[in-house]
Amino acid sequence: MAAVTPLLVTAGLSRAFGGLRAVDQVDFALPEGETHAIIGPNGAGKTTFVSLICGRVAPSSGSVVFDGREISRMPAHRRVRLGIAYTFQITSVFANLTAFDNVALAVQRRLIDDHARGLSARALTEHGMDALTKVGLAGHAGKIAGTMSYGHQRLLEVAMGLALKPRLLILDEPTQGLSDGEIENFIGLVRQIGAEATVLLIEHNMDVVMALAERITVMEQGRILAQGAPAEIRANKAVQQAYLGG
Ligand SMILES: Nc1ncnc2c1ncn2[C@@H]1O[C@H](COP(=O)(O)OP(=O)(O)OP(=O)(O)O)[C@@H](O)[C@H]1O
Ligand SMILES: [Mg+2]
Repeated sequence: MAAVTPLLVTAGLSRAFGGLRAVDQVDFALPEGETHAIIGPNGAGKTTFVSLICGRVAPSSGSVVFDGREISRMPAHRRVRLGIAYTFQITSVFANLTAFDNVALAVQRRLIDDHARGLSARALTEHGMDALTKVGLAGHAGKIAGTMSYGHQRLLEVAMGLALKPRLLILDEPTQGLSDGEIENFIGLVRQIGAEATVLLIEHNMDVVMALAERITVMEQGRILAQGAPAEIRANKAVQQAYLGG
């Protein structure tokens, strides 16, 4: 009888930039454990929408509720502690640090309030290496991030997100710039992550979307145009016109 409360709910969530309604009255619910894709044309509001969820951008109106708790005005770093991690469209690794130091910083960020100061070097190494191993970069731990290939830097970003041990992992166009082989590996990686966490994935590559998403939301001009299982979205005429190119 008791309905399961979604992990994430937005209600009337909106953000305007001047006169532009980048995100316009979005009602969205994400059940815990789901891998959900957000698709839509350039400028549809996808990045702004997930920025509102993780707190990088403040809403003009509406609410974000995570795990039953209203977080619309909570600063981003506190949302990270609740378990919301994200990797963004623009690569944000620290180029001058090694791959390991990048994930170690993420681990410390997660634990900063609890016991980061008391965290042993050994525990830090363990957590950090665990995240690098998951994305297949354990062998590159000592490499300076800025010297790694673009694809590896993107994977490093995902490792930094995983080091936060998120309940919700938001990935904004993670496969952009990856080779076909890297994309294959990436699909396997997100499947693994999805077994433990809820995943919200913004992605233009429809093969990746169809391989991973349990449900898809299509955005257009700040609004939700359609939502459903992959087969429903594929068959949706309005979606085909707006996005899938006929
Ligand atoms: N900080 C900002 N200031 C002004 N306008 C912005 C800002 N951020 C986004 N916008 C505008 O809001 C709209 C939505 O942008 P957003 O980046 O959310 O789209 P998107 O769906 O992620 O697009 P893409 O697929 O190209 O990444 C666009 O018209 C964009 O120019
Ligand atoms: Mg975007």
